[in-house]
Amino acid sequence: MTISPSFTLPDGRLIPQLGLGLWRVTAEETTRLVHAALELGYRHFDTAAFYDNEADLGRALRESGLAREDYYVTSKLWNDRHGDAPAALGESLERLGLDHLDLYLIHWPCPATNRYAETWQQLRDLRDEGLITSIGVSNFQPEHLRRLVSETGEAPVVNQVELHPTFTQRDLVRLHDELGIATQAWRPLGRGADLAAPTIREISARTGRTPAQVAIRWHLQRDRIVFPKTVHTERLAENFAVFDFELDEDDLIAIDALNADDRQAGHPDEMN
Ligand SMILES: NC(=O)c1ccc[n+]([C@@H]2O[C@H](COP(=O)([O-])OP(=O)(O)OC[C@H]3O[C@@H](n4cnc5c(N)ncnc54)[C@H](OP(=O)(O)O)[C@@H]3O)[C@@H](O)[C@H]2O)c1
Repeated sequence: MTISPSFTLPDGRLIPQLGLGLWRVTAEETTRLVHAALELGYRHFDTAAFYDNEADLGRALRESGLAREDYYVTSKLWNDRHGDAPAALGESLERLGLDHLDLYLIHWPCPATNRYAETWQQLRDLRDEGLITSIGVSNFQPEHLRRLVSETGEAPVVNQVELHPTFTQRDLVRLHDELGIATQAWRPLGRGADLAAPTIREISARTGRTPAQVAIRWHLQRDRIVFPKTVHTERLAENFAVFDFELDEDDLIAIDALNADDRQAGHPDEMN
């Protein structure tokens, strides 16, 4: 069985670079899907309090019989829990049936609430207590990242942001590199829409790989952590069969050039 290669986070911890995202996976589907994914070699699962499937993920992981150190779980603090991280984390851990999370993120900065810096300090304390191994953020804009660093001297290990071929967030990723933050790309396939781009179709036809595999390979070779979501077992297998080929630099550059600043989801400044 192939296991995803590990990616070394800025805090020195390892994360499987390719995982499974669980947004919009119903509680009933989660158990089936997680079992199928584990059989294929997936070991990294991205969930959130907001996704309403933590309990089902936790149950499937326990049923698998795998040792705790053999799988990686990320969850996220929802927008109505800023300033209340100890309780929010406790509830996520209880639903998951785990005693610690591998990675815990502030889901959105919620600038109107303006409590993300305080929440970040709470995550640092929870990490120091051993309840979280690595701490990060999601959907943070440059000013939010800079404020965390200037107020606490500590950058998040990851910023999980919308990023796909037609929305490459070049400036934000440059800032991640400057501050030593790893990039997690959510919506890695552009929810399937980006896979129709002629450039991706051409590379797919030439390499004999599917458009989704081409897009996933592009993310991996651009040093991003990804977790495409699917509820279909064949696609689970397809999306994971990407470790036996490489795109050449010209192909990576051609996919980079598909950027059209085409944000699909809401702007982080407006999510509160
Ligand atoms: N931090 C955040 O704010 C945030 C926001 C959104 C998402 N996320 C995370 O990122 C994960 C992935 O993002 P996403 O679900 O929005 O988008 P995505 O992974 O880019 O796309 C998922 C869509 O693509 C389809 N798909 C999957 N594999 C495919 C394949 N091989 N060929 C063709 N179509 C395929 C899926 O359909 P089927 O399911 O029908 O196969 C689904 O409609 C989420 O599950 C979640 O964990 C985080």
